[in-house]
Amino acid sequence: MKEIKIESTLYVYDALDELSKEVRELMEKAIESRNKAYAPYSKFNVGAALLLDNGEVISGSNQENASYPSGLCAERTAIYYAGATYPKAKILRMAITAASQNQKTTSPIPPCGACRQAIAEYEVKQKEPIEIYFMGEVGAVAKSNSLANLLPLIFDSSAL
Ligand code: THU
Repeated sequence: MKEIKIESTLYVYDALDELSKEVRELMEKAIESRNKAYAPYSKFNVGAALLLDNGEVISGSNQENASYPSGLCAERTAIYYAGATYPKAKILRMAITAASQNQKTTSPIPPCGACRQAIAEYEVKQKEPIEIYFMGEVGAVAKSNSLANLLPLIFDSSAL
């Protein structure tokens, strides 16, 4: 038997204004997208924006459905659109923000497990880490230098 310890590193900034102009601008795009979320059921709006190495910014928001499981999270809406539109581009950075329609989210909201798995696929595909920033509606912003920090032991094509 051997014990394996897994370490993850996150950086937490007190507020968005502590981050660079480039990151703030990407988060602004995520906020714009969050405001376009279609979330009549959960009342929980999420926006995501991706910066690609060709300079394009792709954003997306959660899209819900009366048949609940048919809806899709903001992160996957954005990343699949990026993959479908610019299949050769690498994703440099991703900004995510979540806001409830009922109360103010004041702490960073990390992407759900299914979205982490989807982001992992692109990180493996492009062989370069994706920087991920995530926040609530106001307050602290968390940064991960790679999706790997958010999803240790990913399932990838090497297992197939
Ligand atoms: N949601 C996202 O868009 N991203 C996540 O990472 C977590 C959850 C959405 C899905 C659903 O529309 C709502 O938030 C509540 O779960």
